[in-house]
Amino acid sequence: MSDSEQRQLHVPYREYNSHNSTNSVTLIETDALVDLSVTPSNNVSLSNGDSVAVLPEVEFAPTLSIDQPLIIDSPAMDRENQPLLGRLELDVTFNRFPDDPQFSDLVWQAECAIDNGINPQRIYQGSSGSYFIKNLTGKIIGVFKPKDEEPYGRLNPKWTKWMHKLCCPCCFGRSCLIPNQGYLSEAGASLVDRKLGLGVVPNTRVIKLVSKTFNYVRIDREKARMKQAILDQFPAVASHFNRIGLPPKIGSFQLFVDGYKDADYWLRRWESDPPPPHLANQFQLQFERLVVLDYIIRNTDRGNDNWLIKYSSNSNKNGTEGEVKIAAIDNGLAFPFKHPDSWRAYPYHWAWLSQAKLPFSESTRELVLPQLSDQNFVQDLCDDLYQLFKQDKGFDRHHYDKQMSVMRGQILNLQQALKDTKSPVQLVQMPAVIVEKAKGNGAPRLFSFSDTFTQRFQNKSPFFSWC
Ligand SMILES: Nc1ncnc2c1ncn2[C@@H]1O[C@H](COP(=O)(O)OP(=O)(O)O)[C@@H](O)[C@H]1O
Ligand SMILES: [Mg+2]
Repeated sequence: MSDSEQRQLHVPYREYNSHNSTNSVTLIETDALVDLSVTPSNNVSLSNGDSVAVLPEVEFAPTLSIDQPLIIDSPAMDRENQPLLGRLELDVTFNRFPDDPQFSDLVWQAECAIDNGINPQRIYQGSSGSYFIKNLTGKIIGVFKPKDEEPYGRLNPKWTKWMHKLCCPCCFGRSCLIPNQGYLSEAGASLVDRKLGLGVVPNTRVIKLVSKTFNYVRIDREKARMKQAILDQFPAVASHFNRIGLPPKIGSFQLFVDGYKDADYWLRRWESDPPPPHLANQFQLQFERLVVLDYIIRNTDRGNDNWLIKYSSNSNKNGTEGEVKIAAIDNGLAFPFKHPDSWRAYPYHWAWLSQAKLPFSESTRELVLPQLSDQNFVQDLCDDLYQLFKQDKGFDRHHYDKQMSVMRGQILNLQQALKDTKSPVQLVQMPAVIVEKAKGNGAPRLFSFSDTFTQRFQNKSPFFSWC
């Protein structure tokens, strides 16, 4: 193959036909010969006077059926009101949640703000690249954690984590967790919270965002600069790129909750100045919901810095005398595929609090027990998590099954503890159980009523913990 032949490739590409009468653009897929050779006419002058040869990237579009031409910029889609950063490179349906218009609107506000130069701001505490996301007025509305900036993600900005991984992989990281899927764990915790009606996890879902303040490799930034050069030179061609020109990042987006402080802050204050009994009782009920959540998802990272408390003892305008609320944040290290065993235990830090010594209340038992005792509910929960987890590029069905075996085991223990009116301390002392689907019925379906499950106890217990 000659050099020039190598540059000519058969690729399907989208042809953009403008229909002035309808003011819409139809995409038609054709198989065309695209010339990838660089010609002098593609040269673009940069601001520093240099001239570089550039070409718009040829992006492969998913196959479209001839009967279903994809209409973009149709008046029905109201694209004029959609943020520019979403055009073409960002799937416009990805960040929309038909079952949750409020959340869709929140993401929409974030997109508009970024489009108008109000960029996400990195949170400096913590071990990963997490960002505060603002709205058009500059108010923080959410926390975004991109997958590729997680502690062991490829673009984690906190390089010490990388050193941990390289130098001493057995001492750091959590061998019971699937690496680099923290964003799914964040959204999964929110799903469990919603499904059970616990109301302690700020709404969290998986979205895609792009911003120049995220961490990108140099080549992506160079490409973005190229695209900017094209934008300046050939506005018509450049309209095919998103305005920022950087690749969108997939990650978890969590609603930012106002007026909350780290749990440690209030727990210490209450040592010397305890809340009045009715608020202490309110806190106890919220606390039990946190316990239920953490136990089911087998959270391995619930330090007192990873849950927040909002507390006020003053009467508010509704006439209620103060309020106390818990927000369970930072749920990225949950859903293990096996119970922590021989190295570190990852205990639940709330187990040392005095509230953990009290038996579960009637109110929590009434809320949770009927749901957890219903096998259809549990199966539904597993199916919903499957839909969520399977969107990761590295999704592995075998690992997912193991994650669900651990979760089912946790649910079994929790159910028993609630029936026996045990306390959270007694709950965490129960031997770890794994509930597996009995082998042999190997149907590809997620669940059938003939599925049988077997339970077994974990015999290895942790011999060391420094948490
Ligand atoms: N949903 C939220 N609402 C309010 N503050 C939050 C929220 N999520 C995180 N924060 C704040 O950001 C800090 C870091 O967030 P966290 O989720 O713990 O990130 P990391 O994974 O880096 O530890 C928290 O200690 C808290 O102060
Ligand atoms: Mg944290």
